[in-house]
Amino acid sequence: MSLFTCALADLYQEKGDLFYDGEGISQLAHAWQCGQLAKAGGASPKLQLAAWLHDIGHLLSKKEGTPTTYGHDDRHEHVGGNYLLSVFSEEVSQPVLMHVLAKRYLVTTYPDYRKALSADSIRSLELQGGAMSENECSQFIALPFAKDAVSLRRWDDLAKNPDLNMPAKADAIAELLNLAEECQ
Ligand SMILES: [Fe+2]
Ligand SMILES: [Fe+2]
Repeated sequence: MSLFTCALADLYQEKGDLFYDGEGISQLAHAWQCGQLAKAGGASPKLQLAAWLHDIGHLLSKKEGTPTTYGHDDRHEHVGGNYLLSVFSEEVSQPVLMHVLAKRYLVTTYPDYRKALSADSIRSLELQGGAMSENECSQFIALPFAKDAVSLRRWDDLAKNPDLNMPAKADAIAELLNLAEECQ
């Protein structure tokens, strides 16, 4: 197992049980659900891994709780995406870096999208820059990996079911580590 994979195991072992304020789900459950949705959606292993790890920036952050509740944007997509860029290809890191931009894109492009967002996602949207302009949307969707980021965002929004059964913590982490090893 690589040093990075060991660090990943430690991070989710230590902080995977933390809950997102207002979401009713732990970091690990959200990551696992997002990864399963990506897999069911036919995503490549690298995009599945991006789905699993899209919020790793929250775990790497020193901030307590959910920073948006006190008006702070922790820029977790940059923290997480840049961390992953040191180990994986852009197929993993870019959708992570772009998953907040994808939300801002979807809010403008699909008027019903905002209604389906969770309370925390709506709260953070304004801190993250709000809806994109039409011009920003055109520029965004032309970027490499933008469509992967939009797919990831759709899975992200669905991966917040507090009642869904999931494997034991150790098994979920093992599944993540296998995928991470495969993608290095
Ligand atoms: Fe996120
Ligand atoms: Fe998320």
